[in-house]
Amino acid sequence: MTVVARFDDLAPGTATKVDVNGTAVALVRIGDDVYAIGDTCSHANVSLSDGEVWCDEKQLECPRHSSAFSLETGVPATLPATQPVPVFDVTVVNGDVVVEVRS
Ligand code: FES
Repeated sequence: MTVVARFDDLAPGTATKVDVNGTAVALVRIGDDVYAIGDTCSHANVSLSDGEVWCDEKQLECPRHSSAFSLETGVPATLPATQPVPVFDVTVVNGDVVVEVRS
């Protein structure tokens, strides 16, 4: 379990790239919820946190070819990506965002 950010520092509807023990993770805040998925697109070496957050769909869109990854499962809803990205357990403890990355 690693503290990666303060919840209040995450703007709603945005993605933030953080490093968790060498793993690039995209933190996404939607309202009072926070999600953590692998930051590297499964289609090419692109940072998903540079993409747009689709709050209603709970998806993060790749900025290069627009595959939209589920924040809950990591599965892309749209092509060209076909492989999921990892999802990580994330909790907020006393205002700290805590992510668990198992290696
Ligand atoms: S690099 Fe992400 S969909 Fe192509």
